[in-house]
Amino acid sequence: MKNDIREVLFSTVEIKNRVSGLAQKLADDYVHKNLTIIGILNGSLIFLSDLIREIPFAVKIDTIKASTYVGASTFPKGKTEIIHSININVKDEHVLIVDDILDTGKTLSEIVQMITKYSPLSIKVCVLLNKMARREIAIAPDYCCFEIEDKFVVGYGLDFDNRYRNLPYIAVLREGIFTASKII
Ligand code: IMP
Ligand code: MG
Repeated sequence: MKNDIREVLFSTVEIKNRVSGLAQKLADDYVHKNLTIIGILNGSLIFLSDLIREIPFAVKIDTIKASTYVGASTFPKGKTEIIHSININVKDEHVLIVDDILDTGKTLSEIVQMITKYSPLSIKVCVLLNKMARREIAIAPDYCCFEIEDKFVVGYGLDFDNRYRNLPYIAVLREGIFTASKII
């Protein structure tokens, strides 16, 4: 896997520090409140599991499975497909939606609209990465670990063609990896 990497953007230690800091902020903001954390799969898998284990009070967890890309592509297909939604009632809950990255904003704005229909007490968005340069829909994260430039990144849950999610840091792939795939 290491040979496929062009540049490491955020190391394992940097990520760990930012995730801990964010968990501390969440712990302060949501203390004495009923909190339901909804992770968007598959991208939030690693971030979600590290983040929730640093929150010192009992929270409810659920997930939504959404799909943005088709095959080996770095361009979103345009329409977010919700493959499965939440099972728990969020009516008396403060909801925090957790995703890997806010890019065009389509996925999270659709999911926020969808969850709003269930009338939670509040709804906020928490992302590992914010790629502001590619935003198409006006949505800003309430909580974010890192701002990034317009680069396609992998690792710590983020994938290219479903690979590299298990890389323990966030990196940019070598150009050859994209061009070796049929669709780019
Ligand atoms: P959006 O709907 O354009 O904001 O896209 C959000 C989804 O696209 C994220 O949840 C990611 O799964 C995926 N995505 C966006 N940018 C990247 C990237 O740089 N690397 C890997 N996945 C990405
Ligand atoms: Mg995703």
